[in-house]
Amino acid sequence: MIELSEEQKKAVADAQETFIELKDSSKPLNNEQLNLLFGQARSMNGWQDKEVSDGMVKSIYELTKMGPTSTNCCPARFKFIKSDEAKENLKEALLPNNVPKVMTAPVIALIGYDLDFADNMGKLFPHMDVAPMYKNNDEMNTSTAFRNSSLQGAYFMMVSRALGLDCGPMSGFNNQLVDEKFFAGTNIKSNFLCCIGYGDPSKIFMRLPRLDFEDVCEII
Ligand SMILES: Cc1cc2nc3c(=O)[nH]c(=O)nc-3n(C[C@H](O)[C@H](O)[C@H](O)COP(=O)(O)O)c2cc1C
Repeated sequence: MIELSEEQKKAVADAQETFIELKDSSKPLNNEQLNLLFGQARSMNGWQDKEVSDGMVKSIYELTKMGPTSTNCCPARFKFIKSDEAKENLKEALLPNNVPKVMTAPVIALIGYDLDFADNMGKLFPHMDVAPMYKNNDEMNTSTAFRNSSLQGAYFMMVSRALGLDCGPMSGFNNQLVDEKFFAGTNIKSNFLCCIGYGDPSKIFMRLPRLDFEDVCEII
């Protein structure tokens, strides 16, 4: 059992109270809201000429950061590419097909994972010393960083949609080149990028099929 200080016990009690109030005062999302997030939402290939403010980008992060990660490790690092100069710098690393889709986006979120994420564990998981578990095991360190940054990237997309924006996620780029250009001198590696903005409906591709429950799910 973990021994908690009086202050930590109070924080646990407050958190439980907050959760009970949330559940008492809220309903599940309605169909319209679910469609905006999942059911009718689409991946974007083109963008309206409409700005996304820095304030909006910060609002997206403020909710994204609340999504769960293992041992609360929060390994994702975000670089928001907005200036023409930074976009030009990215261009060379993109697969040719992706260039127009990316270059016309108002904001491109470069989502990376920090292999030094364990340096923050004292702050993020203060009741237990988990940093050595990662620092002494390269494979676990890398898989944890990649897995959880991918999750945080997914939270980022869903938050963006929830706030009324559209997303164009992409992995079709040269990761090594992007790392050299945008994460030099760090232990951050690129995972994927996600354009955000107001999508151009005329660029939407046909909806592709998904796999049925019976084909890929099992209740045991
Ligand atoms: C991690 C990831 C990487 C992707 N990479 C690319 C890409 O490089 N180029 C591209 O045009 N679309 C890319 N996509 C978009 C997918 O093709 C698209 O999300 C999928 O076909 C579903 O489309 P829908 O959301 O409109 O139904 C990527 C999506 C994800 C989540």
